[in-house]
Amino acid sequence: MKICVGCDHGAIELKKTVLAVLQEFPDIEAEDAGTYSGESVDYPDIAQMVCGKIISGEADRGIVLCGTGIGISIAANKIKGIRAALCHDVFSARMSREHNDANVLAMGGRVIGAGPAGEIVRAWISTEFSNGERHIRRIEKMMALENK
Ligand code: RB5
Repeated sequence: MKICVGCDHGAIELKKTVLAVLQEFPDIEAEDAGTYSGESVDYPDIAQMVCGKIISGEADRGIVLCGTGIGISIAANKIKGIRAALCHDVFSARMSREHNDANVLAMGGRVIGAGPAGEIVRAWISTEFSNGERHIRRIEKMMALENK
């Protein structure tokens, strides 16, 4: 599984943590999509870059990070085909995969520390979509909202 990881200037340290945790998984190829310095960048540009790779098939899933995780998750969810989940706890991360088949995880570098963030990434990577009939139905309805 290929995972593209991107952040704005508010989450440079968190991105390092995320990339280090992804290295624990031998089956995962992680791509670092930047940003690489503390210079200010606009989180919608990062969301577009990471999510664009998912939509094009270059990546299977993405992890997007900004100061709060809010702006970049909102931006990611504007892109057709993206289901981004802003998670700052392990339970939500697991549920975002089991119930919502989230293809993007968002977190905030000014919100969460390295330890909890690492556990969230591990849970999100390791949890499969439940494939339950009711969840599929709800996801289909959710994705149909993109065309309204
Ligand atoms: C950038 O200063 C900050 O606004 C951004 O990282 C994020 O928190 C937005 O939601």
